[in-house]
Amino acid sequence: MPERVQGRAGPPGRGVEWSVAREILTVNPVRTVAGALRVPGDKSISHRLVMIGAIARGRTAMTSLAPGADVEATCACLRALGVPVDRTGTDVTIDGRGWTGLSQPAAPLDAANSGTSMRLLAGLVAGRPFRTVIIGDASLSRRPMRRVLDPLGAMGAGVQAVDGHAPISIDGGALRAVDWHTPVASAQVKSAIMLAALAATGTTSVTEPLQTRDHTERAFPTFGLVCRGADGTVVVPGGQEAAAPALPLRVPGDPSSAAVWAAAAAALAGGQVQLDDVCLNPRRLGFLRVLERMGARVEIEQTTVSGGEPVGRLRVAHGGHGHAVVTPDIVPDLVDELPVLAARAALGGSLEVSGAAELRVKESDRIAALVAGLRALGVRADERPDGFTVEGTGRPSGGAAGAAGDHRLVMAFAVVGLGAARPVVIEDADAIGVSYPDFARDLAILSA
Ligand code: S3P
Repeated sequence: MPERVQGRAGPPGRGVEWSVAREILTVNPVRTVAGALRVPGDKSISHRLVMIGAIARGRTAMTSLAPGADVEATCACLRALGVPVDRTGTDVTIDGRGWTGLSQPAAPLDAANSGTSMRLLAGLVAGRPFRTVIIGDASLSRRPMRRVLDPLGAMGAGVQAVDGHAPISIDGGALRAVDWHTPVASAQVKSAIMLAALAATGTTSVTEPLQTRDHTERAFPTFGLVCRGADGTVVVPGGQEAAAPALPLRVPGDPSSAAVWAAAAAALAGGQVQLDDVCLNPRRLGFLRVLERMGARVEIEQTTVSGGEPVGRLRVAHGGHGHAVVTPDIVPDLVDELPVLAARAALGGSLEVSGAAELRVKESDRIAALVAGLRALGVRADERPDGFTVEGTGRPSGGAAGAAGDHRLVMAFAVVGLGAARPVVIEDADAIGVSYPDFARDLAILSA
């Protein structure tokens, strides 16, 4: 289980309180949010770097690894596959021995709550000559796995699942290249196929209906791996070995975590935040366009490039309340930020989302649980089969909302709490530990 934040942070009557026994996070209303901080390392990039480091020859060193339980699940699975992964806080070293450094695990790998761990690891082990079983928690065991097992099966791996769900088992071995068209726009599916393709005979291509985050494509050259991409298709030649980079890698800050503070600043009069060292990959910044549509003032300043990713500073300030529409074509660029964007709209303005049916198969049914939670807090919100609408009326009443064990919903309801009339009590809030264990501390830092 994620490490929990205990106690309280911030002055009495302000900030946040944790009750460990009941796994409850109470967020008190604030005047506004203001200040600067560095959010934790990006979760998507961290998963990829440790996995590719595990199949690389040599020592890969990384700093600012994502601190949450999701990436720790990936590290633990890699150790169970025989790879030395040495972690102290957010610093990690991986002593890879190439593909042959992966050996048959003695027990099922446990991906816990992490879809990225389960799906990408399935691709990583598909070319190895042994059986790997991967299990997950109750939430992960409800999520669809055929989308990744079908292509791995077509490449020649023996794949099994329980009615398309975890536990999954992969009998790895010699793989052949495929030209795969994924029906769902999913970076996890694309990345699993790309990792398997490295070990295959021939050249694999993956075509997606809409372009998704390209962290795997950007990470490959850092490890001397080749891939090419154009017009929504990624091409990976087979028979490749990765080499550890000569210099340590620094994982940039997670835009999905930055989005929480950006949304809160955008929603509250006088709000202004500066977020340093954030990954500025355009495939992750769709939320900024929506915040701008709703009135926010946004500044983006790139300061460096790290592991192929643009990195820099975001400044977001309140600038009124407007109406925004999220159409299906931009959903992959903000899929994880839709809950906090809903929370932003709950505090003024309005938001309409369609083409986001994928939200129903995330860590929770994020459409149902988000709308139910917002309504419980006095917000006008409605479900659609593939999205939702939120009509902001200024100050929601506050009250209690269930996060359904979903970290993104904890963050969303916390943003509502900052601008509500009364405190917001978030139940099942320890899920925050999967991506942002120090969330309550950072909330207190920015509360003004
Ligand atoms: C992720 C991709 C997205 C995202 C998830 C992380 C990744 O999922 O929602 O939080 O790291 O590749 P899908 O690829 O399934 O859309």
